[in-house]
Amino acid sequence: MGNIYQGTQTNIELAAQTIKNGGLVAFPTDTVYGLGANVYNAKAVASIFAAKGRPSFDPLISHIADINFLSEYAHTDSRVIDLAKHFWPGPLTFVLKRKDNLASLDLVCSGLPNIAVRMPNHPLALQLIKSAGVPIAAPSANKFKCISPTTAQHVADGLADKVDMILDGGACKIGVETTIIDLTTPHIIILRAGGLSKEELENYTGEKIYISHGDSNQPSAPGQLLKHYAPRKPMRINADASSIMPHEFFIGFGNVQGSQLNLSPSGNLEEAAANLFAYMREGENNSQYNSIAMSPIPEHGLGLAINDRIRRASYQE
Ligand code: TXA
Ligand code: MG
Repeated sequence: MGNIYQGTQTNIELAAQTIKNGGLVAFPTDTVYGLGANVYNAKAVASIFAAKGRPSFDPLISHIADINFLSEYAHTDSRVIDLAKHFWPGPLTFVLKRKDNLASLDLVCSGLPNIAVRMPNHPLALQLIKSAGVPIAAPSANKFKCISPTTAQHVADGLADKVDMILDGGACKIGVETTIIDLTTPHIIILRAGGLSKEELENYTGEKIYISHGDSNQPSAPGQLLKHYAPRKPMRINADASSIMPHEFFIGFGNVQGSQLNLSPSGNLEEAAANLFAYMREGENNSQYNSIAMSPIPEHGLGLAINDRIRRASYQE
């Protein structure tokens, strides 16, 4: 099917070669699909921004498959290494101080003194990075401000003609992007709520974890832009089941009646996160309805990430 490739050994090698040659490869991760290029190839990195229509002030996350790669381009300390050993591979991105001798990373980092790094928990992603032999810079594989992709087909729907290959690894297990933490400060600050909950971070570190609400005009993470992750239809959140209008595609959560789709009938937030973007796309694509309404989502665990995404998706400019 077009440029979607099954995740066979041969195709992974082909994809790694494509990365080495300066091409773009979309690949699955534990969170969402990424649009990848060789971190050290500024031209390839520039083509990521062009393909997404993303402003170049929005820095990218580098994906690595080996903790030892960290010290190549970032300053680390015992806190960083300890968190990496505990949470990687997994849905957690670190923002670290960059080593300033690598001019090739200027575009990846949008000229900032910091770099974002993660190790995805997906065998295809890890094999691809290892075979390519370089870290892979990758934002989510969607057009800027659109809904993030959680299947290979979602990537093809938005970017088919812009990417050399789409590696198919099935539906992403977590379904919302990584939690991004700033590790350049004495206290850990969450820059973007995501697939690893604040509670899990607090339990492990024994520290209070802060949440940055950022400056929406000067986002340090574009996840902080007021409008983001947006379907092409108006979306209303915190919608009570009794308030749904006939023209609204109702996405429920928990024990509610009358929904077209339910993120998790049992009220499980992990299940809801995994379904979120695919269900928003279904609402967007269903021509019988001209807007989307969504049930309230509790504000704990992965609910923070879900509420963050749907608040931005429903923001009226
Ligand atoms: O789950 C994920 O994190 C996915 C998968 C593909 O890894 N990636 C992802 O990338 O969500 P993207 O580009 O859609 O979001 C990356 C976020 C942006 O909000 C960006 O501003 C932030 O990471 N970021 C990147 N570098 C940064 C830096 N040096 N300082 C602060 N934030 C940074
Ligand atoms: Mg994104």
